[in-house]
Amino acid sequence: MSLVSWAVPIAAQWMPKLSSRVLASSGYTRDVDAFGDGAFEVWNEATAERQDRAWRPLVAEALERGRPRADIEALRSALHACGDTLESVLEVGCGGGYLSELVDAWYPDSRYVGIDISEAMIANARRHFPGRDFRTASAYDLPFDDDEMELVLDGVALIHMPDWKRALAEYARVAKGRIVLHGLTLTDEAATTRFGKYAYGQPTLEFVFGRTEFEQTCEQLGLVRELSLPGLEYDLRRYIGIPSVSESWVLHVEAPARDAS
Ligand SMILES: C[S@@+](CC[C@H](N)C(=O)[O-])C[C@H]1O[C@@H](n2cnc3c(N)ncnc32)[C@H](O)[C@@H]1O
Repeated sequence: MSLVSWAVPIAAQWMPKLSSRVLASSGYTRDVDAFGDGAFEVWNEATAERQDRAWRPLVAEALERGRPRADIEALRSALHACGDTLESVLEVGCGGGYLSELVDAWYPDSRYVGIDISEAMIANARRHFPGRDFRTASAYDLPFDDDEMELVLDGVALIHMPDWKRALAEYARVAKGRIVLHGLTLTDEAATTRFGKYAYGQPTLEFVFGRTEFEQTCEQLGLVRELSLPGLEYDLRRYIGIPSVSESWVLHVEAPARDAS
């Protein structure tokens, strides 16, 4: 193992605030109380700007130079498994709207709507992609009718939601056809566990899902997994002692959504 691959996690653990200026994530801990009361607020403008700087080159690399990072390639495969055309796509937790650029390139005729709980993220998305439909809203109470959208896409957002079962039930209610959960962190060796970290410098709550509980929740909601693809390496063993992987799932909405809480 190279010196850099050892040094970066150590720096990220022991100098979390400092390293968060150069790393997307740092300061992982299962002691979420250590961040203090009210630390896990919605992402602010500085966080939105930092994520923006990290993501725009990745999208350009994928679309302009044809060199998608492994997670973007997994997303492309997951979406294409849902069809060569998609009537409508709702992205939940759309952040600065980067994935809308990919959806637009891959599905130019589809209706895209992006929602995010953070006004700062939505402001960024609107600034960068003025013609697109971005709204401030919560995954827990989606402002859409039952079966209104053909596909609900979650890109690395569910892992930040304490009431992820409620969000998943909302996805099942609004999606007519399929749900794509992109960037799910899963473990086969522990129960669902929450932890804290600095994401782009801001204290952020995150979850690693116990695979069995996650699969059972999907089943209760009438969601049948059709595809699972590996994503970027994301092993939390070194940070919080829980081995994990990142995957992208395609779920088919088979039955009327039931409450999984
Ligand atoms: C890691 S970012 C992912 C952004 C984007 N989907 C991407 O892949 O680049 C997670 C996003 O989820 C949003 N989020 C977290 N909880 C949410 C909730 N309850 N409802 C809607 N959005 C939420 C955050 O504000 C943040 O923008």
